[in-house]
Amino acid sequence: MAVWWCDMCGIVGYVGEREALPIVLGSLRRIEYRGYDSCGVLVQDSANEQIYIHKGLESIGELMEKLHYHGTIGIGHTRWATHGMPSVRNAHPHLDCSGEIAVVHNGIIENFQSLKEGLLRSCRFRSDTDTEVIPHLIEKMLERARETGKPYDALLKEAVRESLSYLKGSYAIIVAIKGFDGLIAARRESPLIIGLGDRENFIASDVPAVLEQTNRVIYLEEGDIAVVKKDGIQIENGAVEVTRVARVIPWTIEDAEKGGYEHFMLKEIHEEPKAIIDTLRGYLTETGIELGFDAGHEILMVACGTSYYAALCGKYIIEHIARIPVHVELASEFNYSDTVLGDDTTVMAITQSGETADTLMALKKAKRFGCRTVAITNVLGSSVTRIADDTVYIRAGPEIGVAATKSFIAQLVILYLLGFYIADMPGHELESWLGELKRLPQLAQMVIDDSNTAIRANARYLAGFENVFFVGRGVNLPVALEGALKLKEISYIHAEGYAAGELKHGPFALLTDATPVVAILSYDNVYEKTLGNIKEIKARGAPVIAVAVDGDEEVEKYVDAVIRVPASRAILSPIPNTVALHLLAYWTANTRGCEIDKPRNLAKSVTVE
Ligand code: G6P
Repeated sequence: MAVWWCDMCGIVGYVGEREALPIVLGSLRRIEYRGYDSCGVLVQDSANEQIYIHKGLESIGELMEKLHYHGTIGIGHTRWATHGMPSVRNAHPHLDCSGEIAVVHNGIIENFQSLKEGLLRSCRFRSDTDTEVIPHLIEKMLERARETGKPYDALLKEAVRESLSYLKGSYAIIVAIKGFDGLIAARRESPLIIGLGDRENFIASDVPAVLEQTNRVIYLEEGDIAVVKKDGIQIENGAVEVTRVARVIPWTIEDAEKGGYEHFMLKEIHEEPKAIIDTLRGYLTETGIELGFDAGHEILMVACGTSYYAALCGKYIIEHIARIPVHVELASEFNYSDTVLGDDTTVMAITQSGETADTLMALKKAKRFGCRTVAITNVLGSSVTRIADDTVYIRAGPEIGVAATKSFIAQLVILYLLGFYIADMPGHELESWLGELKRLPQLAQMVIDDSNTAIRANARYLAGFENVFFVGRGVNLPVALEGALKLKEISYIHAEGYAAGELKHGPFALLTDATPVVAILSYDNVYEKTLGNIKEIKARGAPVIAVAVDGDEEVEKYVDAVIRVPASRAILSPIPNTVALHLLAYWTANTRGCEIDKPRNLAKSVTVE
């Protein structure tokens, strides 16, 4: 029988005096980027001790219309299926035999099979999930604990603590129990936060879920178990009571809303200039740059997805500016490779969410080699920040669209800063570079302001094809890879990013008038070479769209269309070029009528290997 893990999901909880259902659904909707295949809610009416549960394949929006449960305690779950098709039977919350203990879970219980075999002797299972063992375990432990005659709260906590001690794997869970005036939350290797309100508290996988209600947040730590009531929170770790400091999150609810844009992705691309400004502001001092750590003389960057392409850009950027060796590895490959690291290598994890399982594993592996570790992330207090020796925050604000956009741009900004920070430059030279960096928001804004003409026209054109190549050289090779990734994930057009000089070693065979090629150029040492590659591509009959700087008249002679970007120093060109490619992908997907913010089969943060 197939097993239904919930390795990538969003969970939320509410305890207070207001109606729980709209708050729970509203919170779930804000973290739908964590998954949107199926969802479920539970509401407890403390007046008559009733619990109401709904599980379904509907969208959260549909549930908002359809459900009308009353009660002041609630939990909810939104799922991203990685194993097995979504189904009502396997949607959360999962219950014990009595139907009184309910659990929502994000993570994987690795030893659930053996636990289930033991429990099956006396319990009735209703789903094929790993999660369902948790409520059944709590049920058993509660029966046992009851014999001790302790107060109910202490019993519940003990039962949960005992149950969790049997679990191998990862979890963030919220437990609701009929008749109990609170919720119990616990985490190990999956993120979980508590939002603090006035006579009410919130629990969630991610900050955007609670931002509408509060910006005061406690990040639960590994092994924490919290009893959350409307007027108090008790946290223990290893059966010892602990205090966790609340942080004030510098994000507002407007940051996490669409603000009049049709999609979060478009809003977030329009926020790219601001992400540059905010990120620069965080690290520019009167005398230069302060990142707050020693980067060493050799760097390895590990990352996944879009963050990996930022890291690849980082290699070109830092090697160009600071002339030190930079290596880049996909975290998922590095984790099982035989790479040997010297303890003088600084290992940097680049991750928007700070929760990507592969990237976290890679950083832990680096620590085992004795390397200094640095996290570059967007999310305050995320798991990566607890593993790394040092953290540098990009300041992109909450990114909701599944496809990363402004976080990529902000990551590039940090990588430029890092390059200049490491390079031992004379003051006047650094000053001139910083002047160029400060122009970047303006350049990004110019691309956005111009996007209604060439970018949208080319997007309409690309929308009619099923295969597109993106090519570039040097620092614009990772930009081509990012452009292709963005197009394929949101428009479902097959897109491949390629080194412009490599097409002749195979992909030429695919070039026809039905395979347009987007070529990215800047005035650098490979400009002429890229132009040569474009000529070769044209000779094979493929239409070419160039992304090139204003005033580059030469390129016009060889291509079918040009998307213009403002000129910058070549090493900085990934910023304007990527803004153009993000918009190109967005408008292509928009023309094709795609679900842009929630592409099929994807999730924003992938907390599973
Ligand atoms: C997922 C997202 C991507 C993201 C990648 C890495 O696949 O859909 O947009 O680039 O994870 O995420 P991270 O949070 O580590 O940057």
